[in-house]
Amino acid sequence: MAGDSAIGIHDLSFATTEFVLTHTELARHNGTDIGKYHQGIGQRSMSVPATDEDIVTMGAAAAAPLIARHGGDGIRTIIFATESSIDQAKSAGVYVHSLLGLASATRVVELKQACYGATAALQFAIGLVRRDPAQRVLVVAADIAKYEPDSPGEATQGAAAVAMLIGADPALLRIEEPSGVFTADVMDFWRPNYREAALVDGQESIGAYLLAVEGSWKDYTEHGGRAPDEFAAFCYHQPFTKMAYKAHRHLLNYCGYDIDEDRVARDLGLTTAYNNVIGNSYTASLYLALAALLDQAEDLTGRAIGFLSYGSGSVAEFFAGSVVPGYREHLRTTAHRAAIDRRRPVDHARYRELHGHSFPTDGGDHRTAAETTGPFRLAALRGHKRVYESR
Ligand code: COA
Repeated sequence: MAGDSAIGIHDLSFATTEFVLTHTELARHNGTDIGKYHQGIGQRSMSVPATDEDIVTMGAAAAAPLIARHGGDGIRTIIFATESSIDQAKSAGVYVHSLLGLASATRVVELKQACYGATAALQFAIGLVRRDPAQRVLVVAADIAKYEPDSPGEATQGAAAVAMLIGADPALLRIEEPSGVFTADVMDFWRPNYREAALVDGQESIGAYLLAVEGSWKDYTEHGGRAPDEFAAFCYHQPFTKMAYKAHRHLLNYCGYDIDEDRVARDLGLTTAYNNVIGNSYTASLYLALAALLDQAEDLTGRAIGFLSYGSGSVAEFFAGSVVPGYREHLRTTAHRAAIDRRRPVDHARYRELHGHSFPTDGGDHRTAAETTGPFRLAALRGHKRVYESR
């Protein structure tokens, strides 16, 4: 039996954007057969940020309900994971810390390794809590996935933030000790500092992801991990939801199983419901898969969930969590569905306008139009400083 650390995810909440573009609308514009989007990559719509939304406003909106429920006491660390950073020096977490009114006796830092960053944050948080079980760590994973218009990556954009409170005696999920890690220097996806849109070699990325599944699983089993049959479900990083299916078939095949599509659907089916309407949210994607699973499953009490976190470049980790008795009383299913349902659909022309928006870089006073109806907004860029406001 795998070791149980009794440290894990105490609460989880997510936020996404003001706007949504359906793949039907995208396909209508670019002539793609809708089957390629709906079945081929497994995506139905993608979240599109308003001009006054960014990783900070989404991160703060995801974290605010955690602070409202638990208060800020005991939070001495905020780890903000992102690959759509807004500043080369200052952590986006410092803005979130300020917007949420948390105590000055807090350490705040930003972490980066593509879509893997939030899992590093989770593991580092567990280390901090192990050192002092009275402390809680706020992990925020927020990203805007942006590719060039009319590129293959365009259909796999999206945006969201997940906030998790990590602590001892967690109410949702205990993260188990064994972990399998894997790193390989590959150029499947990257974003040089001077570019807003990421560069991606889609086929290379699928291959690199599958290799990382093998590598991290191998290391996981060598460190005393569970057998595949012990898991009730598997959450994968989902740059597009069909990737989870490719990855899981690959894992089962690597473990010597014949591929049984009913089993694959059973293992993954509930984990794609949020990602397939939000799109890729990079660091947040894996934890949106967890939210979708917990919000929809009948009862997972005491069951093990497998996690495969992949970040291009590439770093991966396979680990497991066991679901805590009584977890259903702490879920935020209604708020999660509302975050998705509240988005306003945009047509293709409006989406392109939003996609093309960027701030002038002259250091002037640039106010943003009030578009978001969310709790936080980016009000202006003034003297090269981002100015946020709460509602
Ligand atoms: N009906 C049903 N399925 C269809 C279809 C149709 N009319 N037309 C195509 N498809 C299927 C293809 O067979 C393929 O499925 P398969 O992969 O199981 O073979 C799938 O749709 C995608 O088609 P493909 O031709 O590979 O699409 P593409 O060249 O546009 O690339 C991605 C798709 C996902 C690779 C591309 O969008 C991408 O690179 N996205 C970015 C991914 C990323 O961010 N990676 C880094 C982080 S992990």
